[in-house]
Amino acid sequence: MTSPKKLHIKSYGCQMNVYDAQRMADTLAGEGFVETAEADDADLVILNTCHIREKASEKVFSELGRLRVAKDEAARRGRQVSIAVAGCVAQAEGDEIIRRAPVVDIVVGPQSYHHLPTLLARSRAGEAAVETEFPVDDKFNFLPQPKAEAIRARGISAFVTVQEGCDKFCTFCVVPYTRGAEVSRPAEKIIDEVKRLADNGVREITLIGQNVNAYHGEGEDGRTWPLGRLLYRLAEVPGVLRLRYSTSHPLDVDDSLIAAHRDLKALMPFVHLPVQSGSDRILAAMNRRHTASDYLKIVERFRTARQDIAFSSDFIVGFPGETECEFTETLALVTEIGYAAAYSFKYSPRPGTPAAEMRETVSAPDMDERLARLQSLIDSQQSAFNRAAIGSTVEVLFERAARKDGQIVGRTAYLQPAHVMAPPDIIGQVKPVRIESLERYSLLGELAPIGALTSPQPAASLSPTGA
Ligand code: SAH
Ligand code: SF4
Ligand code: F3S
Repeated sequence: MTSPKKLHIKSYGCQMNVYDAQRMADTLAGEGFVETAEADDADLVILNTCHIREKASEKVFSELGRLRVAKDEAARRGRQVSIAVAGCVAQAEGDEIIRRAPVVDIVVGPQSYHHLPTLLARSRAGEAAVETEFPVDDKFNFLPQPKAEAIRARGISAFVTVQEGCDKFCTFCVVPYTRGAEVSRPAEKIIDEVKRLADNGVREITLIGQNVNAYHGEGEDGRTWPLGRLLYRLAEVPGVLRLRYSTSHPLDVDDSLIAAHRDLKALMPFVHLPVQSGSDRILAAMNRRHTASDYLKIVERFRTARQDIAFSSDFIVGFPGETECEFTETLALVTEIGYAAAYSFKYSPRPGTPAAEMRETVSAPDMDERLARLQSLIDSQQSAFNRAAIGSTVEVLFERAARKDGQIVGRTAYLQPAHVMAPPDIIGQVKPVRIESLERYSLLGELAPIGALTSPQPAASLSPTGA
């Protein structure tokens, strides 16, 4: 018997890439590939890349430099190694990648990776293997279902792509160019995928999309369903204990989504709702199409529907022309909302986007200084939010054994890691935990009796500055 071929996938960027990497592995499992954690023993290495900021794209080329050495070494020993570049850099740069890094055999965009087996055969036959057109066939109709063992090996929490692409064209962003136009998968396909995951031990489903709440797929009844309607349906799937979704755009928050938060216990009260800036002038220049006060009103609608809801966000500092005063409007918005967590980035000009043509750039030292101030405000909010959990009893979904012997780690509704001493059979279950202390970002606690849950703490009452 020949030994199985080995596959190593390294993913960068967002959750969509994590999901895509799993589906690539499922596709190549049908070709006899098994995954390996080591790039050096692999027969096929896939870099699943991200183009969102310059640093993210440049990482790929330094990794390719390292892989060239490994590939040459393998060739000297008579072993042929193939290197593929997938994901958003592949889509954006196409065969330019092979010109810059001839070590690459295959270039495949995020909408075409169901063709990986054919591309691999083509490259092994010495033909060009570049595919970055947006194909007419829908990859989801061709991707095989993951095997039951693969689902179990991936753990109790899974991503499911429900929507891809983006039509918003924020002026700084490459996603509409790398992922293409917004498309929603039919509800029936999503429900089947979720049932299969739940039948194989998955207990938490995160629906993902570049702009997930723009979901408008065909429903089981033939009508167009918004995300809220889909969430109601998925909450009925046996075994699904928790539902989440990411990433949302404020403009696409509709009544069905707010109602789902009001009605569905399984829908976690934690929403990633990027705002990018607190300045109306910058928001307009970014083409976000809402103001800071619109955003505050949307947050209020969520809070009215579910008092224990908390938010996270993304911010860009140093967008072209951002003044000190406009930046302080971002700080003011953050203070007003009180986030449980947030990501902040220095603006990075991306080729082909309208903002990259804007002349009034912000200097590097100003950007660094603004980023540091924003991150320190966000950190203090996050610590205050985490400290507020101490002394309360909250539900935790247990995921896996922790590094420390006898400890099991899970997550709260707000994705805070929580550690308890407990038997491993609680993995996959939701249990009440009394939170006793906080160690950096992790909560430590003890299993508590059923019924000991603390009533939800209104997120708005948390001190936003950590005071
Ligand atoms: N669809 C999501 C975000 C996708 S990209 C949304 O609409 O918010 C993830 C985050 O990367 C963005 O929210 C933004 O904060 C950041 N980002 C995108 N393009 C960027 C750029 N050119 N420079 C710096 N940060 C950027
Ligand atoms: Fe990019 Fe804007 Fe689309 Fe988000 S909504 S993916 S930031 S263009
Ligand atoms: Fe990056 Fe593409 Fe995701 S650019 S953030 S991998 S959609």
